[in-house]
Amino acid sequence: MPEAPALDPRLARALVEVVGADHLLTDPDVTAGAAVDWTGRFRGATPAVVRPGSAAEVAGVVQRCAAEGVALVPQGGNTGLVGGSVPLAGEVVLSSARLAGVGDVDPDGGRITAGAGTSIAAVQAAAAEAGWAYGVDWAARDTATVGGSVATDAGGLHVVAHGSTRAQLLGVEAVLGTGEVLDDLGRLEKDATGYDLSGLLCGSEGTLGVVTAARLRLVPALPDRALAALGFGSWADAVTAVGLLRRGLPGLEAAEAHGAAEAALVAGHLGASPALDPPPAVTLLVGCAGHGDQVDALAAAVDGLAGVTGAAVADDGARRAALWRHRESMTEAISTLGSPHKMDVSLPADALAGFAEEVPARIAAVAPEARTWLFGHLGDGNLHVNVTGVAPDDAAVDDAVLGLVLERRGSISAEHGVGTAKRRWAAEQRGPTAMAAMAAIKAALDPAGILNPAVLL
Ligand code: FAD
Ligand code: MLT
Ligand code: ZN
Repeated sequence: MPEAPALDPRLARALVEVVGADHLLTDPDVTAGAAVDWTGRFRGATPAVVRPGSAAEVAGVVQRCAAEGVALVPQGGNTGLVGGSVPLAGEVVLSSARLAGVGDVDPDGGRITAGAGTSIAAVQAAAAEAGWAYGVDWAARDTATVGGSVATDAGGLHVVAHGSTRAQLLGVEAVLGTGEVLDDLGRLEKDATGYDLSGLLCGSEGTLGVVTAARLRLVPALPDRALAALGFGSWADAVTAVGLLRRGLPGLEAAEAHGAAEAALVAGHLGASPALDPPPAVTLLVGCAGHGDQVDALAAAVDGLAGVTGAAVADDGARRAALWRHRESMTEAISTLGSPHKMDVSLPADALAGFAEEVPARIAAVAPEARTWLFGHLGDGNLHVNVTGVAPDDAAVDDAVLGLVLERRGSISAEHGVGTAKRRWAAEQRGPTAMAAMAAIKAALDPAGILNPAVLL
């Protein structure tokens, strides 16, 4: 781990004036955890973790750091996977831990306001208590935060039904790099009054402002569910099946896929049998939700699919949870093999299967000792390409994978963001005009360039 730079004593005093001595953490034993990412691939060092407790305190922290030219990394649950949430260049970490809490659910409108440090699980629980649901869900729900999910435009397991975080976002409260508080929480379902500033902050990865709260749209809570694991002999058959399910199964809520080696790895990790045993070339997990028997609806839709080599249907909560456990433990299972290179890509539907078939060979060509793991949100055209057995700073596999993505007209980041890991590739994908526009926006909202300066741009 690199050595932490010292915090200027004048800035330390100024920050203590804003947040109080208890919330400026400088003990290296305490701050070390905030300096390394979830995968262990990105390790930095920080002179301090500062924990403001309100938007006004966040503004105070940003203003004082801007005055001293000291950079900040906003951090929520630190579950980000692209090296964007950790102080790789000695930045001060601005933690959202004390910005947690949910407001009342608007019972008729189906909306909730939550502090940036609130966990996704807490939003889901508050929504459920009021008879609604939150449309975004993923395995890190207990740790990942509202602020982090807005900053990354997190996707997850139900995008095929509800869209990513951006689709749930009505408005945010945020402290811009200028130190001003932008209160955009009052935005309504239909609101065409000027620029969508909350939408701009969504996916900005902490480079334009620190999100302090968000107003989120909820979706109806559906009481009945079914889930099936379907086997296919090829990625092409699985992609065709997803297209048919999206048209023919109105309650489709999830369409998640992984390969055979991935099924075996996660089963071994869990000490369980694979959902389909022996694992087929591709396992597709299909979930649907609605009112009334979903098993019949799912079975009828599956009947119409070609190329299904096997199926396991979960018709009660316990079996559904067991199947989901296989899918949701994939990240953890891969991490038992060492810090992976994680590429999170999306492709047009007609390029998905070809990409999935070709990418292992492209990786093997530059790193014969590496192992490739493929899984992801097939319903959204989003595949996670994980590579183990390569050094953390060896960019050859990233170049091989992301180069293939761009050749196939894909996106180098579907849902995790660009972070520090993929900056060069983002510029290549978006092109000079878009990058210059982003730099101009950054300069306007963060003139001192102190918010996550190593991320995205
Ligand atoms: P952090 O990791 O702390 O930060 C992420 C980024 O947001 C950083 O750039 C940071 O600077 C910025 N940021 C954080 N808080 C704020 C704030 N208040 N204001 C401004 N910027 C801020 N992601 C998906 O999209 N889909 C998945 O299915 C998915 N599954 C996952 C499963 C596991 C097991 C793990 C570990 C991660 C998974 N992720 C997934 C990635 C991760 O959970 C998301 O990127 C999440 O949105 C990060 O939230 P966080 O609170 O942990 O943010
Ligand atoms: C997932 O879909 O499980 C995640 O995005 C996490 C990962 O890519 O490991
Ligand atoms: Zn994912």
